[in-house]
Amino acid sequence: MGELEVYEGTATIEKVAALGRRRGFVYPSSDIYGGLGSAYDYGHYGVLLKQNVKAEWQRAMVQERDDIVMLDSAIILHPQVWVASGHVGGFSDPLVDCRTCKHRYRADHIGDAACGRRPSKHPGETADCDLTEARAFNLMFETSIGPVRDEGSLAYLRPETAQGIFINFKNVTSSLRVKPPFGIAQIGKSFRNEITPGNFLFRTREFEQMEMEFFVPPAESVKWYEYWIAERRRWYLDLGLRDTHLRVRPHDPDELSHYSSGTSDLEYLFPIGWSELEGIANRGDFDLTAHAEASGTKLEWIGHEERYVPHVIEPAAGADRATLAFLVDAYDEEEVGGDERTVLRLHPRLAPVKVAVLPLIGKDDGLVGHARPLYEELRKVMSAEYDDSASIGKRYRRQDEIGTPWALTIDHQTLEDGTVTIRDRDSLAQERIPIDGARALLEDRLRQPWQPR
Ligand code: GAP
Repeated sequence: MGELEVYEGTATIEKVAALGRRRGFVYPSSDIYGGLGSAYDYGHYGVLLKQNVKAEWQRAMVQERDDIVMLDSAIILHPQVWVASGHVGGFSDPLVDCRTCKHRYRADHIGDAACGRRPSKHPGETADCDLTEARAFNLMFETSIGPVRDEGSLAYLRPETAQGIFINFKNVTSSLRVKPPFGIAQIGKSFRNEITPGNFLFRTREFEQMEMEFFVPPAESVKWYEYWIAERRRWYLDLGLRDTHLRVRPHDPDELSHYSSGTSDLEYLFPIGWSELEGIANRGDFDLTAHAEASGTKLEWIGHEERYVPHVIEPAAGADRATLAFLVDAYDEEEVGGDERTVLRLHPRLAPVKVAVLPLIGKDDGLVGHARPLYEELRKVMSAEYDDSASIGKRYRRQDEIGTPWALTIDHQTLEDGTVTIRDRDSLAQERIPIDGARALLEDRLRQPWQPR
């Protein structure tokens, strides 16, 4: 099959954002004050979904391996960190101002931008446009430490989690049982004063990263670079992304960051087109060498008969961008029995709620007497919801919209033979199972590989 050029599906970024808001996944931030452009607050189901994304990353990176350890470094680091890393000097985008409409554009994105006065044109295309020369705009947010605001108090909010890992190389190697090849993984917030944020969660100024720095003997760097590209691709596929929507794109030499001798993007086919989901970079010894020189602390591996500065392979993912990709991929609209239904076909391990327990009639004491204890048993081991309001059809639709893979319905037959129906979100199939076996069955299904469509 040839590569897809455009997104094929019912999702658009706008529809996913509207569902997100309506069903309590993601709200525009500072809403009652008119919003703060491209900033979002996660609601209940969004928190659960993003937490599951991060938990699956940590499971694959740390729990199911024995060569990667975790770190949670500070957001505000010594300002010299960002000088040594090259961010103070070089972490910038080329910026262009229009003196007429006062809008600002990324010089390298002019072709995608709309003119401030005539949105059907690109900036610079009308006689009125008066664009400045491009100048470098540093993307780091500045802050200050302590009560006096002067040059000595200047600090930055981290623009990536990676540097917190490099500066802890010595702490980790001297306190934990690690030996190259080994990795240090970190999940946490990063901040970039993006010139053109947008497309919902895709590009924001405050976002969460999931980064891992894998330290290897220099001669093994190419092997591990290829290994991590394949491994990270598999992670997304195992969690249900369609493989026709995922591709690996190696960077051209002129695209490479200052630290990289090779980078490949894992790209996802968003409704806005193919875009970076995660970058996997071969950073060589750039970072450890730079921090060793700037700090005066040797950052090297010393084995029994060897001593070297490890090379680093870095899979760098975004938790919010991954959450958006999973939402877009899962979003579906279809007609069922003459009715339109919206469903999130999320992988069960990502779904914010795993099971809904529904008494057929909410006010029937006999049914409730079976439904409540079942729900209370299930919620001890998985995220579960109890719903006794509205018609059963409406309750199913509500669960479909938040991606709940299974619903257990307690009806009058339950009172006779101790069985309940289990409804499958995707196939809509219903089967009867013993109420006593429901918990074990669901726990087993959550462990099984899952076939999206
Ligand atoms: N340490 C390397 C690094 O930070 P990056 O490609 O700039 O590399 C890694 O960022 C990932 O972080 C991206 O692939 C993306 O998923 C996420 N990311 C970067 N900037 C973002 C933004 N402004 N909003 C949301 N996610 C972002």
